[in-house]
Amino acid sequence: MSDVKQPGLIDPPDTPAEDQQEEKTFPVPAPLDSHGPARVIAMCNQKGGVGKTTTTINLGAALAEYGRRVLIVDFDPQGAASAGLGVNAHELDQTVYDMLVAARPDVRPIIHHTSVEGLDLVPANIDLSAAEVQLVGEVAREQALARVLRPVLDDYDAIIVDCQPSLGLLTVNALTAAHGVMIPLETEFFALRGVALLVETVDRVRDRINPRLQIDGILATMVDPRTLHSREVLERLQEAFGDKLFDTQIRRTVKFPDASVASEPITSYAPGHPGAEAYRRLAREVIARGNVA
Ligand SMILES: Nc1ncnc2c1ncn2[C@@H]1O[C@H](COP(=O)(O)OP(=O)(O)OP(=O)(O)O)[C@@H](O)[C@H]1O
Ligand SMILES: [Mg+2]
Repeated sequence: MSDVKQPGLIDPPDTPAEDQQEEKTFPVPAPLDSHGPARVIAMCNQKGGVGKTTTTINLGAALAEYGRRVLIVDFDPQGAASAGLGVNAHELDQTVYDMLVAARPDVRPIIHHTSVEGLDLVPANIDLSAAEVQLVGEVAREQALARVLRPVLDDYDAIIVDCQPSLGLLTVNALTAAHGVMIPLETEFFALRGVALLVETVDRVRDRINPRLQIDGILATMVDPRTLHSREVLERLQEAFGDKLFDTQIRRTVKFPDASVASEPITSYAPGHPGAEAYRRLAREVIARGNVA
C-alpha cells in the first residue's frame, strides 16, 4: 500500500467515475427448470464491518428473485445474518452449532424459510462461539460444516456461508465446505491490509483439504464515487486483482443499515433503491461468471 497516494494530495481526474458502473450489462438470467446441486460460497474477510453479512443477505435475496434456490448459513456467533433476515436466533434451541457438534447431524429441521421466496436460513447464535474449542479435539475437525451441508446440496442452487471476522477454525470449515470464496472489501485506504493473509489461508486450504476451492471474486463495498479517495482505492484494487474484482460495486448508503434494522434485505425493504439494484446486478454478474447456475 505504500505507493498509494494520500487522499487529497493529487488533483481529481478529469472524468469522474460516477457513471462507470453502468458500462457493462449482465443479462437477466433465464429461469432454471430444476435445482441443485448447490455451489457453496464462503463470504470471507477477517476484517470486521466490510459488508460480509450485508452482501450475504442481499446477494442471496437477489439470486432468489432470479428464481435461484438459496440457503444462507449464518456462521458468525453474533448472528447478524439471522437477525437481518428476521430470525431471533437467541431464542432457538437448535442452530448451526448443534449441527456441527452432533454425532449424526440432520440440518433440514433447523432450516428457516425467510420472507423472501426461495431464500432459506440456517441460523446461528452465541452458542457457536463454543464450537471452535469443541471441534479442536474432533476427527476431521475442518470438515464439520461440509458434513452438515452435504445432505441438502441438491435442494439449492447456491449456499452462502456468512463467516465471522476471523481466520480461525470456523472460517477454515467454511473454506473446506466451499467451492468459491467471495471477499468483500471496504473501499478505504487500508482495504488491502490482511487480504494477503486471507489469500494465503485460501491457498493452504486448497492445497491440503479442498482442491476445488477458488476465489470467485473481490467485491468493492461502501464505495463513494464522489471522493477521490474511493476512486484511488478502486484503481488500486483493479491493479491488484484484475478480473477477480467484480465489475459491480456497492456504494455507501444509509439504506443498508436501515434495512438491517428492519430485518429485511434491501431488495424487499427498498426494492427501487440503487443499493437494491446494485445487488441484483451483482447476482446477474455472479450468474454470468458461472459462479452460480
Ligand atoms: N454499502 C454500504 N453502505 C453503508 N453501510 C453499509 C454498507 N454495507 C454494509 N453497511 C453497514 O456497515 C455495517 C457492517 O456491515 P456488515 O455487517 O455487512 O459487515 P460484516 O463484514 O458482516 O461485519 P462483521 O465482520 O462484524 O461480521 C452494518 O451496519 C451495515 O449495515
Ligand atoms: Mg457479519
